Amino acid sequence: MRDEFEPHLDPRSEEEWNEARAAAHRLVDRVIDEHRALRESECWKPMPAEVKKALNAEASQEGMGLEAALAKAQQLIQPYTSGNRHPRFWGWVKGAGTLPGILGQWMATGMNANVFGGNQGPVFVEQQVLEWFRQGMGFPEGTSGLLVDGGSMANILGLAVARHKATGGRSKTEGAEACVGLRVYGSEATHNSIQKGAELLGLGAKGVRLIPMDTQGRVDLAALEAAIQADLQAGLRPFCVVGSACTVGTGAMDPLLELRKLTDRFGLWFHVDGAIGALGRFSAKLRPRFEGMELADSLAFDLHKWGQIPYDAGCLLVRDGNLHRETFQVGAKYLGTMDGGFVAHGCHMFHAYSPLLSRGDRALKIWMTIQTLGLDRWASIFEKNVAQAVYLGELVDAQPRLERLAPTGLNILCFRFKGSGLGDAKLDAVNEKILVELQETGFCVMSPFRIHDRFCLRVCVSNHRTTRSDLEALVQRVVEIGQRLTGV
Ligand SMILES: Cc1ncc(COP(=O)(O)O)c(C=O)c1O
Repeated sequence: MRDEFEPHLDPRSEEEWNEARAAAHRLVDRVIDEHRALRESECWKPMPAEVKKALNAEASQEGMGLEAALAKAQQLIQPYTSGNRHPRFWGWVKGAGTLPGILGQWMATGMNANVFGGNQGPVFVEQQVLEWFRQGMGFPEGTSGLLVDGGSMANILGLAVARHKATGGRSKTEGAEACVGLRVYGSEATHNSIQKGAELLGLGAKGVRLIPMDTQGRVDLAALEAAIQADLQAGLRPFCVVGSACTVGTGAMDPLLELRKLTDRFGLWFHVDGAIGALGRFSAKLRPRFEGMELADSLAFDLHKWGQIPYDAGCLLVRDGNLHRETFQVGAKYLGTMDGGFVAHGCHMFHAYSPLLSRGDRALKIWMTIQTLGLDRWASIFEKNVAQAVYLGELVDAQPRLERLAPTGLNILCFRFKGSGLGDAKLDAVNEKILVELQETGFCVMSPFRIHDRFCLRVCVSNHRTTRSDLEALVQRVVEIGQRLTGV
């Protein structure tokens, strides 16, 4: 009877509590079992039409109960994931996740904290992992940081801080008027989140200048300088250069140290988009490749890519922490601090560092991953994946039916099947068919890309489960399918 007057959403009897416990344990077992059997399962499989149809149902009015809801989710949703946990998932730039990370995520979900700030464990753990990242990335004390949902948001927020600085804070008070003529520069391979940011921040797409690249896919420094000079002469306002560590298409590494020098000469903000590669700096062996990144004004990188943290998690570091806070802080009576308690004066308030107030806990899964596995084992994956991309390049070079279309990037290789006497149009179609067949048969997932307007198979090895033999099998399959499709 009591429930009628005081409804709540918890189990309503001892029996229901036991049912919840048993269901949760079964779910855990299932997830562990799935991981144990990843290699034997399809990398990806399409969701059949009848499953989509079954999912397309009215929301339950009465509630179907935990057992029934879980059974449906397990049947209709769980088998049709994007596949990035699998050892042969190499599409786009995705991480495979780890079990400690999953446990951290589950624990955080159980805690259900709103990490806006204040005196609570999730705030302190986020500060702790940010401190690890600050040190690992070689940033000075006074750097601020924030976990966000991914590299796109980290890039956009970094750009917002740069805009705040460039307009002397007027972008905050006067809005778009203060941004007229602002220009941000990056190579033609710059990730589209920079353009999204420019559009959102009142610069418009025309505020982004994409600069040609050299043969290695790095920004052409002379062309960059010429573009900045030309814009200055035209009365425009260059304010920021974005360097990529590394580029999403081919994995090229922009000359970060030179970019820092150039931005210093012109008094520009230097932002590094390290969404894919920056974590490589945690490996002593790879660190020299990132020279200059530690000098950036702001650095964006992802944890859910190479860091193998379960989705989602990205990070922004800003060298001038005060400027970062100034950019976003807006006073509000309902967010005041007190002499003690949960929001005591001096507590760290993450909401002052981005447009977001409510934030989930992204730090615990990172903390769990790093503390469980250790920085050395974590970093060994970055070294392994870099070596694997090089090895794949060697396999491609040694195979007369294949050709690479770009130099091996940090952990990325772009190649294609080639058949003698086949024109580019035919080869485009054949390679697209190869890619689709490999996805649809569940063998592997690569993603499509075009270099010099030629379709290619793009492999990004940001996967701790990939082995050497997976790459050997890939080369063999591509050749087999290509030969079958072309008869050569
Ligand atoms: C270079 C680069 N920057 C930014 C992003 C965006 O990251 P996210 O997907 O985490 O938003 C990506 C995504 O692949 C990327 O490759």
